[in-house]
Order: sequence, then structure tokens, then C-alpha cells
Amino acid sequence: MTSVYDRFFNLKGKTAIVTGGASGLGEEYSRVLLAAGARLLVVSRSKKGWTELKKFAEENHGQADFFQKDLTDENAGKAIVEKAAASFSKIDILINNAGVQIRNRLADFQDSDWKKSDRY
Ligand SMILES: NC(=O)c1ccc[n+]([C@@H]2O[C@H](COP(=O)([O-])OP(=O)(O)OC[C@H]3O[C@@H](n4cnc5c(N)ncnc54)[C@H](OP(=O)(O)O)[C@@H]3O)[C@@H](O)[C@H]2O)c1
Repeated sequence: MTSVYDRFFNLKGKTAIVTGGASGLGEEYSRVLLAAGARLLVVSRSKKGWTELKKFAEENHGQADFFQKDLTDENAGKAIVEKAAASFSKIDILINNAGVQIRNRLADFQDSDWKKSDRY
């Protein structure tokens, strides 16, 4: 039987970057992209969740690579593009998922809170 990915969402031959793609919401985006056939580059600060995601890729005959990078580093964007170019030679999809949510009452927000989220 043809799967939903083959009929409506076939990404074979496409390459995708998911920032924060090994845990939380990003992990789900990564799994869907892999299941649809995309080659994947996960960029994240830590390797949390990567072992499981890599296993999922292997079990589904997918190709997934990991690049450890803090996105708030000034040179992160350039380094990610260079890594993706070296791994895949092109970039079709970017899911710019990594971020922070600082939950606070507006009146209690500190300058440092604004600065932290500004860096993404
Ligand atoms: N969950 C929600 O209800 C919700 C609602 C609205 C919007 N969002 C947005 O959706 C996105 C994902 O949310 P989530 O709940 O899945 O968040 P999460 O569980 O905190 O996951 C965030 C992911 O991004 C990575 N990350 C964070 N800062 C990074 C940095 N500076 N450099 C590289 N990687 C970084 C984290 O890696 P490490 O663990 O290694 O740091 C983690 O893998 C966020 O941008 C969030 O603001 C979420």
C-alpha cells in the first residue's frame, strides 16, 4: 500500500535543516522529515535526543547528521551553511525551531530576559 508520504508529502532528494531538531517539537519535525525521505541536518546546543533520532533515521533508511552549535553565537549561521553544504551540497528546507520561552509577568521581565530572547 502507498503511504501518505509517497502520495502527498514525498521529500526524497530534498535536504532539510532543523534547529533544535533532536528534542521537543523539533524532534517531531525531524522525524516527519525523515519519514518523508528528506536528508536531515540537526543543529543543536547539546546532543540530547540525538542517539534516539539517529536510530530512528537508520531504522527508516534515512540520512541524518548532527552539528553541535549554539545559535546565539555570532558565527553560527555561516558555520551551519558551510556544514550543510559539505554534507549535502544544497539546502531545500529550513525549520528554524530552536528558541527560548521566558514565561513571566510583563512587569517582572528583566532586561536580561529580553536580551536572551533577542539573540535568536
Ligand atoms: N512548546 C510550546 O508550547 C511552544 C509554543 C510556542 C512556540 N514554541 C517555540 O517552538 C520552539 C520549540 O519549542 P519546544 O517546546 O520544543 O522547546 P524545547 O523543548 O526547549 O526545545 C528547544 C530545542 O532547541 C534547542 N536550542 C535552544 N536554544 C538553542 C541554541 N541557542 N542553540 C542551539 N540549539 C538550541 C534545544 O537544545 P538544548 O536542549 O541542547 O539546549 C532544544 O533541542 C521554540 O522556539 C519555542 O519558543 C513552543
